[in-house]
Parts: sequence; structure tokens; C-alpha cells
Amino acid sequence: MKRRDFLTNSSTLLGVGLIAQALDSCSTTSVTPKPNANFTIDLTNSANGALNTVGGVLSTQGIYIVRTGQSTYIALAPYCTHEGCGVSYNSSVKQFICPCHNGKFDLNGNVVSGPPPSPLSQYKVTLSGTTLTVTG
Ligand code: FES
Repeated sequence: MKRRDFLTNSSTLLGVGLIAQALDSCSTTSVTPKPNANFTIDLTNSANGALNTVGGVLSTQGIYIVRTGQSTYIALAPYCTHEGCGVSYNSSVKQFICPCHNGKFDLNGNVVSGPPPSPLSQYKVTLSGTTLTVTG
């Protein structure tokens, strides 16, 4: 093998190795994308009726709001903590599901299954009368 051929082949192998390493590190990287939020929700407005019952989920302002109890609510970022894909709420199984690698989260945003390394990001939610304030 000539020196030039050796260097060319070595460079190719090094490049393949670096690409493989980059792809591998991508699959284990955790992300927690969380859009900024600062808005209120009028619970008497029929448009927000999904929150009239415990376990109800409302998608508004790009964020999921979940009624977790008689007077408790949480707000969840809609992005998977694995690689940042948008999650969708599936009401039949009451889970948030990531289409990218089938990560699943419960109504509290906790990981049920799949590769996500951490729960969905949460926002601060305060209830005053019939108004929810979501910030974070
Ligand atoms: S991005 Fe991989 S499970 Fe959501």
C-alpha cells in the first residue's frame, strides 16, 4: 500500500468513527426544551372546559395544562426530554406520547416507558379564584 493510499484510508476510517461517535452521543443526550410561559386561564370560560374534571387535559398557548385534583393543576412543556420531539396527548390511555422513539409520559409528566431520561418540564401554576396563572 502506498503512503498516500494509507493516509486516505485512515482518514476515511477516522471520519466514520467520528460520525458513529457523534450519532451515539446524540442518542443519549437529554434535552429539556421549555418555551417561556406567562399567561392566565379563565376556568369559567367554556373553551377551557377540559379542565372541569379531574384528569382533564387542555392544550393552550403551546403548553399542556392538567387538572390533577379538585383544586390542583400542573402545566407541562410539550417537548420530549429525550431529543426534543413534540409530544401528543392520547386521551384513551391518558398519556403523552412522543412519536420519535415512542417515549410515554403519564398525566404528571413522569416517564412511563421509552428512552426519555426525565419527566416533562413543568411550569409554575397558581390558582386564584377561577383563574389559573402559568409562568416559567
Ligand atoms: S425524542 Fe426520543 S422518545 Fe421522544
